[in-house]
Amino acid sequence: MGTLASRELELIRSQFAFSLRDRIVTNNAASTQPPLAVLELLRDLSETYENVHRGQSDASIRTTEMFEASFDTIAAWINAPSRRTLSMHRSTTEAINAVMYSLLADFRDGDNVVTTLMEHNSDYVPWHAMCREILPRFGRHVEVRLARFDHESGELDLAHLAELVDARTKLVCCTGGSNFLGTKPPLDQVRAIADAGGYVQPDGRVGALLLVDAAQRFASSRVDVQEMEADFVAFSFHKLLAPFGVGVLYAREDLRETLPPFLYGGDMIAEGQVFPDRVEYNDLPWKFSAGTPNILGVIASAQTLRLIVDLVGADPTRAWFRTDDPLEPGAVDAAMAIVAGHAASLTRQAMEGLSTIAGLRIHGASVGEDRTPLVAFTVEGRSPFAIAHALNAQGVESRAGCHCATLAHHDLGLEPAASCRVSFTVYNTPEEVDRVVAAVRRAVDAPHDFSSAGTPSTSADRTTTPSGRATAVAPSRFGRV
Ligand SMILES: Cc1ncc(COP(=O)(O)O)c(C=O)c1O
Repeated sequence: MGTLASRELELIRSQFAFSLRDRIVTNNAASTQPPLAVLELLRDLSETYENVHRGQSDASIRTTEMFEASFDTIAAWINAPSRRTLSMHRSTTEAINAVMYSLLADFRDGDNVVTTLMEHNSDYVPWHAMCREILPRFGRHVEVRLARFDHESGELDLAHLAELVDARTKLVCCTGGSNFLGTKPPLDQVRAIADAGGYVQPDGRVGALLLVDAAQRFASSRVDVQEMEADFVAFSFHKLLAPFGVGVLYAREDLRETLPPFLYGGDMIAEGQVFPDRVEYNDLPWKFSAGTPNILGVIASAQTLRLIVDLVGADPTRAWFRTDDPLEPGAVDAAMAIVAGHAASLTRQAMEGLSTIAGLRIHGASVGEDRTPLVAFTVEGRSPFAIAHALNAQGVESRAGCHCATLAHHDLGLEPAASCRVSFTVYNTPEEVDRVVAAVRRAVDAPHDFSSAGTPSTSADRTTTPSGRATAVAPSRFGRV
């Protein structure tokens, strides 16, 4: 895995507006910060943009080209066979709901869905709602089953998963990486268990469908959907440097051909093929693109991927940002190896530092495991919320709560169902990790210093920074300013 020298890191950080403010951003598992070059791109696009597939102007044609090319970039990034396998959504959550609504009518009375106690609520609540609230209204009873995890190691209990999957398991849903425990379940084994169940799908295929919630995995490592052999993979870009608002669902092309869309309306129908008694759908991928999409968000997200290759210096021979050149797998591999290696090294450092604090318990996968780059912890007798406020008072942006991994917090018996979490990405530094560990130590050792927690008590009150300051950032190396 690649690493980043401090000079490279400085250069990377100079491309982010937040780095000029006294912010230690360690809530990256929720959302990352956007690079200046992407914000500049959005500003430039705002002068020339138009709707896609809905106009004959040069502006509309060019915007359509960029929008469609974005699908190719995203497909290349995850090694999907083509853009035909992709649909764009608002978030990972919406992408998973899209699977639920597309499969809804296919579930038969007596079927079941198997998911895990490690899931984000986005990969549990839709299945709960489908089984408990939606399908019963149609007289169909489908069960949702939850596989356990090991409370010490955070590992998915594969034996329990295998017990739960049977010939009526239509779908297995599994996280690609836990946003609380850090664990990355062995997806090849999960795939094998899903196949072994023996469910007969409507197209005659035998085995459960596999949905992977790759929200965290995508943000911190190379995701190769073909290698994963998943039927559905969901993720979102706001966890990998892009602005908010775009999630992706990859689905096997033959499923895309046969499954009904999640949303119905304009642009998802074949040109002119709407009649009082009959509607024909558009070709893939547009069958799954009803209504005006988040055009700028999709273009910016795809361009952010290209920028990552440039930012981390993964391909010194050329610049990828602001081009539509076909992305080479080697460039993606190299870029994400650097991102993953850097984040893993910071995570290791944080875990080693935090584990020396008396009474502090780190949840989930241990140091050295291939884990998502986050550390969630609780401290005996201390509120995680008070710790997070105390960290904020010291300039460290963490997150306390259940991180939407509510089932896992309950399963561990945490009362309240909460932990404090710090999480890292490509722009974090080893010095920041040292400051995080020192801040946690102070918050634990001297909690009374932060008893008015919630309002910053140090001179570094970040909110007073002049709002225009971000414009003072060094001109972007990446594209026209
Ligand atoms: C594992 C996991 N799944 C799903 C989500 C939901 O992602 P989104 O906010 O894009 O819906 C998150 C967000 O934290 C996550 O960590």
